[in-house]
Amino acid sequence: MDKKVTVVGAGYVGATAAQRLAEKELCDVALIDIIEGLPQGKALDLAEAAPIEKHDAHITGSNGYEASDRSDIVIITAGIPRKPGMSRDDLLSTNAGIMKNVTQQVVERSPDAVIIVVSNPLDAMCHVAYETSGFPKNRVIGMAGVLDSARLRTFISMELDVSVENTTAFVLGGHGDTMVPLPRYSTVAGIPITELLSKERIDALVKRTAAGGAEIVGLLKTGSAYYAPASAAVEMAESILKDKKKILPCSAYLEGEYGINGLFVGVPVKLGANGIEEVIEITLTKEENAALEKSAAAVRELKELLKKLT
Ligand code: NAI
Ligand code: 2OP
Repeated sequence: MDKKVTVVGAGYVGATAAQRLAEKELCDVALIDIIEGLPQGKALDLAEAAPIEKHDAHITGSNGYEASDRSDIVIITAGIPRKPGMSRDDLLSTNAGIMKNVTQQVVERSPDAVIIVVSNPLDAMCHVAYETSGFPKNRVIGMAGVLDSARLRTFISMELDVSVENTTAFVLGGHGDTMVPLPRYSTVAGIPITELLSKERIDALVKRTAAGGAEIVGLLKTGSAYYAPASAAVEMAESILKDKKKILPCSAYLEGEYGINGLFVGVPVKLGANGIEEVIEITLTKEENAALEKSAAAVRELKELLKKLT
């Protein structure tokens, strides 16, 4: 393939993203993890599926970064999930350390890449990748809004018994409890759901979306979601690799847009060959704006905490 994507972290999200990238024949894939044998084993397994899946993407697995040389995109999923006895602060500082280390190595080998951050806490990890890489803001992007919007689209389709393909949705803000689903901008065949569903039903779908990650954790018990997160990261990568210029909700570094300054927050952006090519500013009601401000405040709090811990 003439494009290359490196996926750092060969765990659930990383390996599934590698599979989707290869099966869509979007690029060659370099899969990297610190656990010896893990990326090599998963890459070989995926390569051995290629004759059956009928694709010619090359997948390599390694513990070093040589194979990542001159990647077009680097998707970072490396990190640890929260374990019993660990505080939120522990997770924040541990994953920030991992993100810093990974970003330093990525940048050395791929100075022109676009970085897609997946590791949690998402918006705070975007700050670490942005500050460590020294990349311009258009080349550091966080994945969250595409996933959260896909969850809302799924729930809309279930509620109205319509094709998921007919649905669109926008979820803005930070990737946490304060995320901001926007029913006015969520549609079925172009019709806003506010015309199709009662306020009570919309409120229920919005609530389920905000708790969407926790719902999966509650069912799986041993980890968090990975099929939909991998699909979301790959949709972003595809728009960049093919210069499709899709408008997608992503965590972007804002400098004044939506009245937010110096912060990564989820907003609609245009994704093309240059990464974020435009932040789309949509009109929000007073209530929607207040919810976005509240969400941005939660991200800022985490960013300040990160400063104290590192
Ligand atoms: P996982 O535990 O299955 O995989 C993480 C992998 O990172 C492990 O294989 C681990 O060995 C590797 N790793 C740790 N330190 C590393 C380092 N320094 N260099 C390279 N690899 C390293 O976890 P999973 O389920 O794949 O999730 C990954 C991350 O993505 C988590 O932080 C999770 O919370 C986050 N996530 C974010 C979502 C979002 O919407 N932004 C959605 C789903 C997951
Ligand atoms: C999710 O929303 C864990 O952030 C992850 O599923």
